[in-house]
Amino acid sequence: MKILNKPYYGIYFGKNYYKLLKNYFLNKNFFSKKIILLDINTKKYCLHYFLSKTNLFNKYYIINLFSGEEEKNIYTCKKIWKKLIKLNADRNSIVINLGGGVITDMGGFACSVFKRGLNFINIPTTLLSMIDASIGGKTAINFFSLKNEIGLFNYSKIILIDKNYLKTLSEDEIKSGLSEIIKYGLIYDINLWNLLKIRVFSKFLYDKLLYDKLLYEKLLYEIIYKSINIKNNIIEKDYKEKGLRKILNFGHTIGHAIESYFIYNLNKRLSHGHSIAIGMICESWISYKMKIIKKTEFEEIYNVLSILYKKIKIYNSDIYKILYFMKHDKKNQNKKMKFSLIKEIGYCLYNIEVDYELIKESIKNHFIYDRK
Ligand SMILES: NC(=O)c1ccc[n+]([C@@H]2O[C@H](COP(=O)([O-])OP(=O)(O)OC[C@H]3O[C@@H](n4cnc5c(N)ncnc54)[C@H](O)[C@@H]3O)[C@@H](O)[C@H]2O)c1
Ligand SMILES: [Zn+2]
Repeated sequence: MKILNKPYYGIYFGKNYYKLLKNYFLNKNFFSKKIILLDINTKKYCLHYFLSKTNLFNKYYIINLFSGEEEKNIYTCKKIWKKLIKLNADRNSIVINLGGGVITDMGGFACSVFKRGLNFINIPTTLLSMIDASIGGKTAINFFSLKNEIGLFNYSKIILIDKNYLKTLSEDEIKSGLSEIIKYGLIYDINLWNLLKIRVFSKFLYDKLLYDKLLYEKLLYEIIYKSINIKNNIIEKDYKEKGLRKILNFGHTIGHAIESYFIYNLNKRLSHGHSIAIGMICESWISYKMKIIKKTEFEEIYNVLSILYKKIKIYNSDIYKILYFMKHDKKNQNKKMKFSLIKEIGYCLYNIEVDYELIKESIKNHFIYDRK
């Protein structure tokens, strides 16, 4: 049984750890209220299982939200806070964020500022939230169409990873999580990258994996575990993102802007992971054009990502809209655009200033279409 147990928070793998959670609820029976925050999908697919594992039947309250990135905003937070007030939630209450990254990001934020801090724990139910969003203490909501503009650092006390929740996820959502796993390989662990690359090229990961349950489970377990360790190693060294943690933003400067452009300009959803995959293609190209990464390595990255992720369409006349979102990126300093760029596979640099024109070119080169 594998555990990551830090003094301020613990990450636990596998359904055996529901025992620990039950004890946690029991020993801390001063928890005046147990409140489960979820969205329509996790209510439908995850709640019953969670209750059966924790024996919380009849001993909980629910805050039920709509699903999707566009819900991760201040209006939904107001809804959460009103409900918490109605439930008389106090500092002895505990909120259980049962969901993907939207629920863990927004739930973490809403709890952290409510009455100056409510206890919360994360039960991630998407691949992406298991290996990334639910861990590392970043909580946030989008504001003024800008991603994660309002937020704070605060650890979830407990994170329980149970891959049983993945069974009801769509293929698109699995792919979305896979994109952040690919990112870990590219920025930090060439072995992880090679493992994924072989699977992709042999068409293993997708075609076969999804139908070969045992293999899928085994491989998934391995890559989830590896990914969490990579993220933990990085945040242990730099929790508040003063330096090294910035490498986790590889693909995100352009990726976040594209994600926002889809939601706020096109009124469509492009999953977080898909957006980041597009961002990783553009940012690897920038790295190659700046002579930071070799052409062959850029091509390797491009090939893997373009097998897994569908090309998107961005109209030429819309490029300034994407640049608008980028100008507000939190990594910028003194109005300069700062990027995290791959130097070689498995190693990433940060705080690299990139020329405005090159950013435009990176998108134009790969994803621009003229309006007919
Ligand atoms: N805090 C961080 O460090 C961090 C890191 C990466 C991403 N994020 C954030 O995470 C968010 C993306 O997370 P996500 O991809 O999990 O999005 P999400 O929470 O929107 O989940 C994706 C979809 O899957 C559904 N869903 C969740 N669990 C399910 C299940 N078990 N079965 C069926 N459907 C299920 C959800 O209802 C939603 O429709 C973004 O807002 C991103 O900014 C945060
Ligand atoms: Zn991300």
